Amino acid sequence: MPVVETASASAWMLEGSAISYALALGADRMPRNLHFGPRLHSASDLLALAGSVRSPGVAPFGGMYGQEYPVWGGLFYDEPCLKVTFADGTRGLVLEYNSHRTRPEDDATWLDVTLRDPAYPLLVHLHYGVYERHDVLERYAVIENTGDEPVTIEEALSAVWHLPMWAGYHLTHLAGRWAAEMQVYREPVAPGRKVLESRRGHTSHAANPWFAMDKGDATEEYGGVWFGALAWSGNWKIAVDADTTGQVHVSGGLNDFDFSWHLAPGESFRTPSFFAGYTDRGLGEASRILHRFEMDCVLPRAFASRPRPVLYNSWEATTFDVNEQNQGRLAEIAASLGVELFVVDDGWFGARDSDRAGLGDWVVNPRKFPNGLGPLVRKVRSLGMEFGLWVEPEMVNPDSDLYRTHPDWVYHFPNRPRSESRNQLVLNLARPEVEAHITEALDRLLSDNDINFIKWDMNRPFSEPGWPDAPVERQREVWVRHTRAVYRTLETLRERYPDVAFESCSGGGGRVDLGIMRLTDQTWPSDNTDAFDRLRIQEGYSMAYCARTMMCWVTDSPKRYSGRAIPLRYRFHSAMMGSLGIGGNLLEWTERDLEKAREFVEEYKRIRHIVQGGDQYRLLSPRASAVTAVQYVTPDRSESVIFVLSSPHLLGEPAPTIYPRGLEPAAAYEVHPDGTRASGSALMGHGICVPLRGDWASALVTLRTG
Ligand code: GLA
Repeated sequence: MPVVETASASAWMLEGSAISYALALGADRMPRNLHFGPRLHSASDLLALAGSVRSPGVAPFGGMYGQEYPVWGGLFYDEPCLKVTFADGTRGLVLEYNSHRTRPEDDATWLDVTLRDPAYPLLVHLHYGVYERHDVLERYAVIENTGDEPVTIEEALSAVWHLPMWAGYHLTHLAGRWAAEMQVYREPVAPGRKVLESRRGHTSHAANPWFAMDKGDATEEYGGVWFGALAWSGNWKIAVDADTTGQVHVSGGLNDFDFSWHLAPGESFRTPSFFAGYTDRGLGEASRILHRFEMDCVLPRAFASRPRPVLYNSWEATTFDVNEQNQGRLAEIAASLGVELFVVDDGWFGARDSDRAGLGDWVVNPRKFPNGLGPLVRKVRSLGMEFGLWVEPEMVNPDSDLYRTHPDWVYHFPNRPRSESRNQLVLNLARPEVEAHITEALDRLLSDNDINFIKWDMNRPFSEPGWPDAPVERQREVWVRHTRAVYRTLETLRERYPDVAFESCSGGGGRVDLGIMRLTDQTWPSDNTDAFDRLRIQEGYSMAYCARTMMCWVTDSPKRYSGRAIPLRYRFHSAMMGSLGIGGNLLEWTERDLEKAREFVEEYKRIRHIVQGGDQYRLLSPRASAVTAVQYVTPDRSESVIFVLSSPHLLGEPAPTIYPRGLEPAAAYEVHPDGTRASGSALMGHGICVPLRGDWASALVTLRTG
């Protein structure tokens, strides 16, 4: 049974295949955490733990006491999950257990616990899902106003995860910047609060809503790891709180900064979901749990089990200078390489000759495409490829017809400048007419053209997030309403155009999270396509997100930004570790490079089911050594590939032995290119040596049974 409860119905246990999560009502009738970690083996364990539930009064000056959903009120001084103000000005909350139920839904079993305020008409529903097969927990809360006066919500987190008491935790998290997103950081947790967050209106390049905590002893392979990820693409917050007694908890959800929500009588407010899990098999397994979960339960079903196509994108080749002729020529070469999806990036619409004009005017530019997109789409199709298009629906250039007609449709404050970034402003999607406008514009684009793929971009964060026409008590809701409108638009389009796939992009990797992953089939991790820089970005990405969603392009060398020259082989090997794309100016590639590229694309198609659907092992980290090695193994363990890439290193520096993982110990594998045949246990135990000579050398090793 995935949810076990005691006879007195005051303690519950959610069980995965290797994890358990237990909670019980304390003396104050508030649910408190009993356990989150390795699986407990019987209901009697639950009873034994329930006897030890801590109650208020243990610490006379207040504290967290393992509360499952702490609210601000009384002797409470930590990060609350919920803070509200009632119509009479009362700002403290008191909640107590009201009821509970269990229910199966989708791939999970749910425990719903309802709490109520004894003095005010407010209910809080705590939802706990356990995805048994994946060892993943999902939590969110719904706040319901059952009275006839409004309630103001000032903070509404999704959940808090209590970790066993311990003084030496380490936090692993992802931080970065434009062109260097998702770098891995690991640091000791000291008493105090560490906040990871976005206040920018999108998920952000600076931090990503994922965390892992371990007791200071975890490696890729070993050690207990608690991890979690938020499904939210707007302002978010994950706070790690530790005190001097060893109590540690990680809370997360919507960022309370500049947030408030006017909960009218009869209305409910649902927080985003916070997913979490535990493994005793290190950071590598923590990632693989999330990867499998994403592939099975998060990604849109329509394309989840189909291989992601090899894509060509014209951005780096032609930037804004797209037209029927140059795109047609690129398409011909792309098709000859084996590309399956041809994507026209920015520049095809409105007066979009640079980033200074045109955003918001989603009509085909008649100078660049005199007969509309039709002829190019037909050409791309006749070449055997699908057709994709770039859009940036949430934005507007002040130099656009849309802005000239509706200057009040952007976020702004009266008497304040409208700060531009990349010469653009953010449309106020909290306004229903703006949401309807972008849904309709995209709908028209998809119904007028035979499009199979949309790259949805969002190139700047918010500023002056004002909505002057709205009642004052609703103006801070924009942070949530905007993200909900993006989700709703994507839902509508997916429903109306089930054969269209979507990519999430936000000036590179600014919108990668489990929330957008429910509605998009792949994401763009970074505008930095330097094959070496990418290794660290891709490593960080892999901490939380699966390889099939990770778009990687092979682009020109030397790179414009980094000035670095890298051989084609290394560029392909770096990009083949995710969903392969090509983004270089093919019109300038040599015949020899095109021939080589054709072979790499063919090779990728032979192994992509391993990369896109397999278990990923980070064998050697680009942060730790001059050689990076990443392995993928099919779920049935019959096939595996290892990418080995070496950056400049010192003469005589030994090549590291590579220890494959995840193989079937007793099965015999044939190793290519060297032709060795050995058992899985020999390969994993003895390792393999991949000799790489010179700078930017790389190899692709394949292992197959039978
Ligand atoms: C962003 C994206 C790029 C490209 C440009 C187009 O920077 O990340 O891939 O689409 O916009 O303007």
